[in-house]
Amino acid sequence: MNIRLARPEDLSGMQAGNLVNLPENYLMKFWMYHIITWPQLSFVAENDKGHIVGYVLAKIDEESEEKGGEMHGHVNSISVLRSYRRLGLAKRLMMLSQDAMASIYKANYVSLHVRKSNIAAIGLYRDTLGFEVAEVEKKYYGDGEDAYVMKLFLKNQS
Ligand code: ACO
Repeated sequence: MNIRLARPEDLSGMQAGNLVNLPENYLMKFWMYHIITWPQLSFVAENDKGHIVGYVLAKIDEESEEKGGEMHGHVNSISVLRSYRRLGLAKRLMMLSQDAMASIYKANYVSLHVRKSNIAAIGLYRDTLGFEVAEVEKKYYGDGEDAYVMKLFLKNQS
């Protein structure tokens, strides 16, 4: 298994994984925008045949930058194909993105939204990575489910 920075040619594999794994899906221009704008923050896991089996898509929050507030990273989407789960891939993808947010962009924290019912992802964020629930966004998802807004403060690296 190889984990590396995502490149524009990986986008169709990332989007395909997203369609299989999650109900929150995005147009190709959304994926492309992230890879072009923050090329150091999104990563893929590929198997021995070079197929994308996991990804993390992340960004730096621009609004807070413009307002002069705390600059922070945001994970838009992460998923791993079912037969490659519980191998530590998501943990590694998240940590690489978090490290880049802190070292390259000096981000103070990383945030994300997750469904209240998503036991696996909450386990990853809270138990393995140390995220905490910052707030609940009622009916955040299209089907009316609430989201936890989770945050992890990052140690800035010089
Ligand atoms: N139940 C409970 N805890 C879990 C589970 C699970 N099914 N899966 C992972 N975890 C937790 C555990 O603490 C695990 O550590 P352990 O294996 O030592 O016990 C830890 O997360 C790390 O697990 P990884 O192996 O790194 O996680 P994996 O590669 O399996 O991917 C993921 C986890 C991304 C949540 C995967 O299950 C998945 O793709 N799910 C569908 C898509 C999804 O829900 N994505 C997140 C949506 S929120 C967002 O995108 C911002």
